[in-house]
Amino acid sequence: MTALNVAIVGNGIIGYNHAKAIVAHGGLDITVLIDAAPKASAALADFIENDLHRERPTIASSIAEAPRVDIVVICTPSGLHVALAEEAIAAGSNVVIEKPLDSNLPRARRIAELALAAESSGLVVSVISQHRFDPASVVVREAVEGGLFGRITSAVASVPWWRSQEYYDSGTWRGTWELDGGGAVMNQGVHTVDLLRWFLGTPVTVSAETACLAHDSIEVEDTAVATIRFESGALAVVHATTAAFPGMSVSLHVHGSRGSAIIQDDQLAYFHVADAGDDSEVLNQAASVVDPEEIFGAPKDEEWFMIGHRRQYEDIVHAIETRSMPSVRVDDALLSLALVDAIYISATRHSPVLFADVLAGKYDNSTRVTGGAL
Ligand SMILES: NC(=O)c1ccc[n+]([C@@H]2O[C@H](COP(=O)([O-])OP(=O)(O)OC[C@H]3O[C@@H](n4cnc5c(N)ncnc54)[C@H](O)[C@@H]3O)[C@@H](O)[C@H]2O)c1
Repeated sequence: MTALNVAIVGNGIIGYNHAKAIVAHGGLDITVLIDAAPKASAALADFIENDLHRERPTIASSIAEAPRVDIVVICTPSGLHVALAEEAIAAGSNVVIEKPLDSNLPRARRIAELALAAESSGLVVSVISQHRFDPASVVVREAVEGGLFGRITSAVASVPWWRSQEYYDSGTWRGTWELDGGGAVMNQGVHTVDLLRWFLGTPVTVSAETACLAHDSIEVEDTAVATIRFESGALAVVHATTAAFPGMSVSLHVHGSRGSAIIQDDQLAYFHVADAGDDSEVLNQAASVVDPEEIFGAPKDEEWFMIGHRRQYEDIVHAIETRSMPSVRVDDALLSLALVDAIYISATRHSPVLFADVLAGKYDNSTRVTGGAL
């Protein structure tokens, strides 16, 4: 099979992870690098040549040898994701969009519709949600789906990280509503919010408070707490902060009437199912697609952190080659973005909101205010 040609748009921090995952795939060639800052593209081209030992993409080689771009990967600031994805779809390319889908829900709805049309003409449009591909996440999702935990009753998600003022000052887009779309929940917590929704289903009501407590000159929250009621009746607590020095483990507890699991820093820290003599057997059943050894004992090296992106690329390329749907579609990312936005709207209004209202656009024209409207 001939390699698929890939263009990476946005060659900053996450662009490097994509370059590594794309090169590791083996069936993909990076042929085009695009960035508003040419220096960023030049630096990533050097990295691809010198560290990943692949031919560096050049404009000449892009035009001469790669007139066709099969996949456009969008790694720019969040508020530019949809506009660039629209251009890529219009050019007839498959598209990979970094998380979050965008910083703005109306734009996200627009790309969800466009993606549906693109899918019906055979294109693949996927949004990065690499933690859905972590072995621990796969096991918990399968256990929930298979009813191993009984009725899911509650969950607790916590992202207690630290981001310095220098981090926010390192890019003019960081910490802004327009381009970052939010703070600790939107940028850092969205992965965990996405997993929570993947495990627990459709939210019904959301009640939240946000604050900016340890940073200056950012518009968005560095601390947020929320409670969520799901359609199943399950209740969840979300806590996300970039103001927890020095930064601690991300955890997601899922509890049910017959079992519970805890994912901590992407690994399974606890798994128990009632009446199962040997949990590892149950785990083996639940984990039909992963190796249990990998779940508990994986070393936390650089390769480990790449697992999610690498597996998501395998999923996306498989979808392109077999003309099937990728595991993470734009619709999935739209729901997670709407849940993040519901947190912001509830915090702004100091009152609970219905998830369905947020998704349907009832608050599209209202301002989001950190700490709530005065
Ligand atoms: N999946 C993950 O775990 C993960 C991790 C980090 C960042 N991200 C996401 O990736 C995106 C980028 O984050 P980052 O940390 O790499 O940011 P960054 O600031 O390091 O890089 C963004 C790059 O985009 C370029 N850019 C800006 N406008 C552009 C345009 N119009 N066209 C082309 N390039 C443009 C900038 O010059 C910069 O080089 C964000 O949406 C972020 O949320 C995802």
